[in-house]
Amino acid sequence: MKNAIFTVAIIFSGALYACSSIQEGKELFASKCAGCHKLERSLKETKNLAEWRKITHRMAGYSDGGITGKEAEKIAEYLAKK
Ligand code: HEC
Repeated sequence: MKNAIFTVAIIFSGALYACSSIQEGKELFASKCAGCHKLERSLKETKNLAEWRKITHRMAGYSDGGITGKEAEKIAEYLAKK
């Protein structure tokens, strides 16, 4: 019985973690990606994670330090799942 509760707790905290990381990506996207072009430009595109990674890292390059590699990763994860 204890084990079952433990397993549920692990699964639940994993789901919470995944959610908060997507939420973080969403907030980063809204704050970091609106400077040069409209957010709609990204929102209307459907791409997989690998394609978004390529783009967000390219954008991070344009941003001249405004977007870090870590932030580009989180934004790519959000955009791939939106
Ligand atoms: C410093 C300015 C700048 C910032 C900040 C920026 N972009 Fe861009 N973006 C550009 C420019 C310039 C282009 C057109 C040239 C190109 O596609 O490389 C572009 C093009 C794009 C495109 C179309 C390219 C394609 O291949 O479909 C998407 C999607 C995009 N940006 C998404 C984003 C996202 C997501 C972010 C935040 C991580 C972001 N941009 C932040 C300047 C910027």
